Amino acid sequence: MKLVLVGCPGAGKGTQAEKLSKHYGIAHISTGDLLRDQIARGTELGKKVSKIMEEGGLVSDEIVSSMLAERIKDEDCKNGYILDGYPRNLAQAEGLEAITGPLDKVICIDVDDNVIVDRMTGRRSCPNCKEMYHIKYNPPKVEGVCDDCGTKLVQRKDDNEETVLNRLKVYHETTAPLIEYYKGKGILATVKGVGDINEIFAEICRVLEG
Ligand code: AP5
Repeated sequence: MKLVLVGCPGAGKGTQAEKLSKHYGIAHISTGDLLRDQIARGTELGKKVSKIMEEGGLVSDEIVSSMLAERIKDEDCKNGYILDGYPRNLAQAEGLEAITGPLDKVICIDVDDNVIVDRMTGRRSCPNCKEMYHIKYNPPKVEGVCDDCGTKLVQRKDDNEETVLNRLKVYHETTAPLIEYYKGKGILATVKGVGDINEIFAEICRVLEG
């Protein structure tokens, strides 16, 4: 199964992709995570992209597309994958099927902008196993510590109000047109992304299996 999750920053793409990955036994590929990993390792590529990401802009198509093309060659992608954060503009979408072959489904997780700043500024994540939390809506059992691996949770540098507002602007200008693009291809399904995380997950599974 080859899936794409589309939605504004903080819509819950990463949260749902992790659950789908475990449920269907397919890889979760987040281009944001791949880029953050380059930054954490201090690579040349990481140095090139860190300022762009801190400001909430988009990294060049060339960089992300070649990173993605390499990642899907990995063994864990054999049964399929969920793309989270890619494609992010029409050029990436038009090039995607040359990399992946036909997609099975594109799920748009629909959330209004007015809840996003609250979601993003409260987000915490595990730098080790990538598990996602929210200080109010999805807190870990022990404050500041990952339930799964016990690592100290961190806050992303781009999760401050100013950058989140810029990321939302970039999303509406550049990424939201993909919704019409995939509607036109007949593979888009939209799921409301507000409410209980497990209920949203169940709704996505219904869409995929229905
Ligand atoms: P990326 O890492 O992809 O960030 P994003 O798209 O902005 O999305 P997020 O990861 O912030 O949000 P999410 O939808 O995954 O929400 P989450 O599940 O975490 O990209 C970062 C940067 O990398 C970009 O700005 C760009 O610079 C660069 N980049 C990446 N891909 C690129 C590309 N293809 N081209 C160019 N540049 C690229 O949830 C958010 C919070 O809400 C969490 O705390 C969670 O616990 C909570 N939450 C989730 N669901 C619910 C719910 N139902 N109710 C309440 N809280 C909830």
